[in-house]
Amino acid sequence: MLKIKNIDTYYGHVHAIKKISVEVDTGEFVTLIGANGAGKSTLLKSIIGLQPVRNGSIEFMEQRIEAESSDAIIRRGISIVPEGRRVFPDFTVAENLAVGARARRSTKAEMKEDADKILSQFPRLKERWKQKAGTMSGGEQQMVAIGRALMGRPKLLLLDEPSLGLAPLVVAELMTKLKEIHAAGTTILLVEQNVTLALKIAQRGYLMESGEIVATDDAKTLLESDEIRKAYLGIEA
Ligand SMILES: Nc1ncnc2c1ncn2[C@@H]1O[C@H](COP(=O)(O)OP(=O)(O)OP(=O)(O)O)[C@@H](O)[C@H]1O
Ligand SMILES: [Mg+2]
Repeated sequence: MLKIKNIDTYYGHVHAIKKISVEVDTGEFVTLIGANGAGKSTLLKSIIGLQPVRNGSIEFMEQRIEAESSDAIIRRGISIVPEGRRVFPDFTVAENLAVGARARRSTKAEMKEDADKILSQFPRLKERWKQKAGTMSGGEQQMVAIGRALMGRPKLLLLDEPSLGLAPLVVAELMTKLKEIHAAGTTILLVEQNVTLALKIAQRGYLMESGEIVATDDAKTLLESDEIRKAYLGIEA
C-alpha cells in the first residue's frame, strides 16, 4: 500500500531523514519506534506532504505521491493524527470532526454516516458532541483527533505518539480502540516512543535512530531483540 524508497528530508542543512525505505502492506499494523529526535515525526510529515522530500520516491497504492500537496494526499486516503493531538480548542467535537470531513470533501450524507460510525466507536464523544475540544481531558482530545482523522474513511491512518502524556488506563483504552479500527479494515502506521506498548500492539516494526532505519522485523522478534532490550527497556542482555 505504502512504499517509501530511499527518501531524504532536510530542514535547511539538517539532514533529518537519511535514505529511508519503509513499506506498509494493505491491512497491516506497523509501528515506527525510536528515541527523541530520531526523525519519526519528520517521516510522517514527509508521507503526508507537510515536509518536502528530496531524492527517492513515495508510492501510495501504486501512485507516486512525494510531490503532491497535503490536500491531494489526504484525498487519496491517508489521514494523520498529529503529534500533540492538535485539536481545534475553540471548536466543538462536532466542528472538529467536520474539519476532517472537509479535508476529504465528503458529502453531507457521507459526513453523517461517518460521524455516526465514529460516535458508536467513541461513545464518549457522543456525550460531548457540543463541548469545546479545548476543555476536554487529554484522552478525550486524543479521541477527537482520531475521530477527525477517521472522517472520510482513510485507507491508511498515521498516528504520531498518541499515548504521550496519557495515564496508563487511558493509554490501554486508546490501544483497544486502535486495535478495533485496524480490525475494521484500516491499515495503521503508528509512531511511538513507548516501545513495549507499540511492539505489543503492532505486527511489524521499524526502529529509527538519527534519521536512519537501524532494524526492522516482526514486532515480537524486535521486542525480544537484545538491541531493543538494552537501548529502550534498560535490560542488560
Ligand atoms: N522545523 C524544524 N527545523 C529544524 N530542524 C527540525 C525541525 N523539525 C525537526 N527538526 C530536527 O529534525 C530531527 C528529527 O526531528 P523529529 O521531530 O522528526 O523527531 P522525532 O523522532 O519525531 O522526535 P520526538 O520523539 O521527540 O517527537 C531532530 O534533530 C530535530 O531537531
Ligand atoms: Mg515526533
